[in-house]
Amino acid sequence: MIAIASDHGGFTLKQEIIQHLKSKGIDCIDLGCNSLESTDYPEYAKQVAKKILSKEATKGILICGTGIGISITANKIKGIRCALCHDLFSAKATREHNDANILAMGGRIIGPGLAIEIVNEFLDTEFSNDPRHIRRISQIEEMD
Ligand code: RB5
Repeated sequence: MIAIASDHGGFTLKQEIIQHLKSKGIDCIDLGCNSLESTDYPEYAKQVAKKILSKEATKGILICGTGIGISITANKIKGIRCALCHDLFSAKATREHNDANILAMGGRIIGPGLAIEIVNEFLDTEFSNDPRHIRRISQIEEMD
């Protein structure tokens, strides 16, 4: 199960990504927002994080205008490793190296074509389980 949410700046891209996930038969839960009306991104970051921490979702996707505010917020939550990615290399590397559990993107930064490729890369890439990366993630967790 993938948990997905956005503010108004990411709403249009969120809808495109939900359609894409559905077309691939991937279950997702849409935690809002539900329109282009102005809203505050921190609440959406919290909602997606909650689903991951409760294990109702395996991964999350968060979108705001830039992806910055929503990723900053998500990374304040213990147990969340949210990666802001606008390229394929980062999406793959953050799964392999950081075991990121949330992908953030900016709906005002990238178009749906690239965003969908990034989502695919993020969801299809496994954590490397390399001891170096496990050690570094533990060091991050010590700061939680
Ligand atoms: C909303 O206007 C915008 O500030 C928000 O979507 C995001 O880009 C913040 O980082």
